[in-house]
Amino acid sequence: MSNQTLEVTAQALVAKEKGILASDEGPDVLADRFSRIGVDPNPDNGTAYREILFTTPNLERHLSGVILYDDMLRGSASDGRRFVDMLADKGIIAGINADGGFHALAGCPDEFVTEGLDGLRARLAAWAELGARFTKWRAAIRVGPGMPSRAAIDANAHALARYAALSQEAGLVPAVEPDVMMTGDHDIGQCAAASEAVWHATYRELRRQRVNIEGTILKTNMVLPGDDCPVQAGAEEVAEVTIASLRRAVPAAVPGIAFLSGGQSDLAATQHLNAMNRRTGHPWELTFCYGRAILEPVLTAWHGNAANAAPAQAALRHRTEMNGLARTGQYAADLEQQRAA
Ligand code: 13P
Repeated sequence: MSNQTLEVTAQALVAKEKGILASDEGPDVLADRFSRIGVDPNPDNGTAYREILFTTPNLERHLSGVILYDDMLRGSASDGRRFVDMLADKGIIAGINADGGFHALAGCPDEFVTEGLDGLRARLAAWAELGARFTKWRAAIRVGPGMPSRAAIDANAHALARYAALSQEAGLVPAVEPDVMMTGDHDIGQCAAASEAVWHATYRELRRQRVNIEGTILKTNMVLPGDDCPVQAGAEEVAEVTIASLRRAVPAAVPGIAFLSGGQSDLAATQHLNAMNRRTGHPWELTFCYGRAILEPVLTAWHGNAANAAPAQAALRHRTEMNGLARTGQYAADLEQQRAA
């Protein structure tokens, strides 16, 4: 696959007014999300839920891409249409969760390394054949006393670069995802230091392993205090510190940064993205690649009841519209009510 094709896809993923939906919950995560709203996590309910998402009218207005899990990339709606074809018909780019999950890192208590490199080349080729055009691989990084350790940073950076190089070889744009998690009581400065160290190590490895940076996107955390930190930050501080940290560590050649929500509320995730996009002086497109911050309100509206399909789709359209506005700094809290269906 040519570098040019990768670069065109990467740019399309971070197009203005658009972002990415991370609906790549594997069976265990989906079961957990369903159980919280009292829905049986059987395959029929899983299909019904995805069908509601992907038949939402005008979904493409604010979504450039959707990340799927392996079963969904292969899966079909109740009328037999493949989910990936439904997305392609809307001009939405299909992505695939390519990692094997994060596991305890030996020798480093409470830290993780993401597995899944063995056999990855063949899986990537199969996913490309099925219609995927981009991939994601999440490295989960803890902040706390002695964390992140050098070992955790380097092991995850190495795996991210191996995965990214293999993705590009298969013609797939890697969404490189180092996620410095909100879990803990660390303050925003500790998150900034950890994030910068992780981004530095990640780009050093990507370069070493000959990844074409222009043909990637960065999917990463905003710089935030831990969820148990007594001092929480306002949107302006989050925007200022996040952009300052990114500027120190992420090459300008990266076409765009798509933030994960990571446990922020839906409104906070939108406000933070908006505050960043109101600022100038950064070289990247800044957009969203949210899972929970888009899908929680959808699950709440749906509740496993087919009769709630329309409100669930309205919730999805609304959150993507609010984030689409935040993508260009045009969001305002008043619009939450004004534009609600
Ligand atoms: P959240 O927005 O729920 O953090 O999910 C995004 C994602 O893709 C995590 O890998």
